[in-house]
Amino acid sequence: MPDPLIRRLTPADAAPLRQLRLDALRETPEAFGSSYEEEHTLTLDDIRAWVATDIENAMFGVFIDGALAGMAGVGRQHKLKMRHKAQIWSVYMAPAARGRGLARQLMLAAIDHAGGMRGVRQLQLSVTAGNLAARALYESLGFAEYGMEPEGLCVNGVLHDERLMTLRLAGD
Ligand SMILES: CC(C)(COP(=O)(O)OP(=O)(O)OC[C@H]1O[C@@H](n2cnc3c(N)ncnc32)[C@H](O)[C@@H]1OP(=O)(O)O)[C@@H](O)C(=O)NCCC(=O)NCCS
Repeated sequence: MPDPLIRRLTPADAAPLRQLRLDALRETPEAFGSSYEEEHTLTLDDIRAWVATDIENAMFGVFIDGALAGMAGVGRQHKLKMRHKAQIWSVYMAPAARGRGLARQLMLAAIDHAGGMRGVRQLQLSVTAGNLAARALYESLGFAEYGMEPEGLCVNGVLHDERLMTLRLAGD
């Protein structure tokens, strides 16, 4: 069996990306700020815009036997005073593919990509306090907590604290 392939997603990946994103929102709604209800109406053109060839926004995917099984996104802040920061988003591995180090590889690809954005000095993300697997992943990559938003997410009536994390990049 060939090794899983990690690569940057392109507009040609829109259909499986849309499916994986909806699977993620359904399976672990408390792990994401967006919801299935908001995103199931997104069209393939909407999804293509997420992965247009733009150095400042990128999504990486892992393919197992040719099928998209995981993803991680990174996007630079737009406002002039915040362009030194980029955000990690949409980190997800399909359940059957977990525990093989693939989310770590996706995150390393996203971090490496952010490192290539001239002037970006830090990566930020937020993670639900109870999501111990994701928190351990981010900590193992060097992310450090800089704050906590109490009751930052309300998912199906349940309130979740959000841990805010940052990774300093070397900058230029
Ligand atoms: C969090 C998630 C992306 C991890 O994916 P994965 O491919 O299983 O992770 P990896 O195999 O690359 O593991 C990398 C590290 O993550 C941590 N980790 C992963 N699964 C873990 C678990 N069940 N318990 C504790 N730590 C875990 C460990 O530090 C691990 O390193 P190690 O294997 O050297 O101990 C996956 O569980 C997932 O998709 N969860 C649902 C969605 C989600 O929570 N997304 C994050 C939103 S912020």
